[in-house]
Amino acid sequence: MPQLFRKIRELRSFIKTVRCEGNSRTIGFVPTMGYLHEGHAELIKLSKLQNDITVVSIYVNPLQFGEGEDFQRYPRDLDRDLALCGELGVDIVFAPTDEEMYPQKPQVRIEIPGLTDILEGAFRPGHFNGVAIVVLKLLHILQPDRVYFGEKDYQQLKVVQRLVEDLSVQVEVVPVPTVRDKDGLALSSRNTYLTQEERESALSIYRSFLLAQRLFSGGNRDPQVIISAVKDFISKHPHVKKIDYVDIRDEELRPVEKVEEGHRLLVAVWVGTTRLIDNWRFSHE
Ligand code: PAJ
Repeated sequence: MPQLFRKIRELRSFIKTVRCEGNSRTIGFVPTMGYLHEGHAELIKLSKLQNDITVVSIYVNPLQFGEGEDFQRYPRDLDRDLALCGELGVDIVFAPTDEEMYPQKPQVRIEIPGLTDILEGAFRPGHFNGVAIVVLKLLHILQPDRVYFGEKDYQQLKVVQRLVEDLSVQVEVVPVPTVRDKDGLALSSRNTYLTQEERESALSIYRSFLLAQRLFSGGNRDPQVIISAVKDFISKHPHVKKIDYVDIRDEELRPVEKVEEGHRLLVAVWVGTTRLIDNWRFSHE
């Protein structure tokens, strides 16, 4: 079983001893909000491969949820998560309480104009401020050699990469490709909210990616044409309540006039009462 820490001070002093024990032992870190699935497991497995010690944090960060969002109903099961971490050979789990992480509400604000205010940031104001604060806090506490982020949350990955560059944080940010279910649905802790019928409608997201990729492969380079086709396709499905956005951006999330290999199709869709995000990288296959 992994060693469980709930206090920053105790984790810090343990990490210190770990670092002193052997020379040049590397620490890999996987930040999560728990309710772990195969997507998280992929990050953990890569960290295990690349580092001597793997630390997983499990913390549903209130700061990144807006008014009326799903903070209260977000799924939580620490025992199950610990068991899974044990099976994967995780060395340390850090699961702090809210009082431990935020004895007072942080007043600092982190914004990256052009990055934290578009797409997710436009629909969830303050979301990336909350993500940035918790990620920076965790990186400061642990000072890992590598930190792992899924491409499933592509914009989050870009925000973290930019933060690390702008603030010279000494860590390697390692991106991990999106893990999907057999039917193509991107794994997410939020999928547990979906009924069977809603899940069927949610599959339209992945299927719309295949449609978009087919258009691209067929020579279509006009973002607006592909975006319209994707919107039309997804919105046909019964439980799709609202499409927040469908957009195509370059690798750094800048707008594009012509779609090229490596550009990303990004979507946020409400299926029933569940908000799902996913993205696709265009390739020449
Ligand atoms: P959470 O949604 O638990 O995700 C933790 C990490 O797992 C993120 O880097 C996310 O991109 C990755 N991940 C989730 N589903 C994935 C999938 N299907 N394939 C590959 N990677 C996947 O993202 C967060 O938590 C939080 O915002 C956090 C970074 C922990 C800050 O609170």
